[in-house]
Amino acid sequence: MNATKQPRAGACTKISVRGGLVLTFLLILFAAFAGASQDGAARHFKKQCAGCHGEDGSGSGSTPALRGLAAEEAQAALLGYRERTREGSRKAIMERVVKNLSDEEIKALADHVAGL
Ligand code: HEC
Repeated sequence: MNATKQPRAGACTKISVRGGLVLTFLLILFAAFAGASQDGAARHFKKQCAGCHGEDGSGSGSTPALRGLAAEEAQAALLGYRERTREGSRKAIMERVVKNLSDEEIKALADHVAGL
């Protein structure tokens, strides 16, 4: 009885050690990914948004400034344009800009906007 239990306990320990290693690895990957997506958002903003809103988000002419928006406000606005539920006299412009963005891209862009 004991003889059969022993190896099982050993196997269990091995699995949990390996699980810990896998978890650590995943956390490192996640951290790297999170960092990369912030970089990605900054680049994305420069390429796709700065032309109208300005690199520092100060807006220009009839384009509203983004500076001072909280991440939640920017995210809600972008989601609203994507889902076509947000009103605005020039909403068609933004609907075109965000229509192919994923939730993650919108979140990353909103975080970037909040940091402008
Ligand atoms: C072609 C010009 C143009 C581009 C490119 C553009 N925007 Fe806009 N954006 C506008 C205009 C115009 C509005 C106002 C739309 C309206 O009337 O609702 C606006 C509105 C917004 C708003 C809402 C602001 C508020 O206070 O209500 C956010 C947030 C925003 N844009 C973010 C972005 C992001 C992020 C990008 C890049 C992915 C981007 N915009 C690209 C022109 C542009």
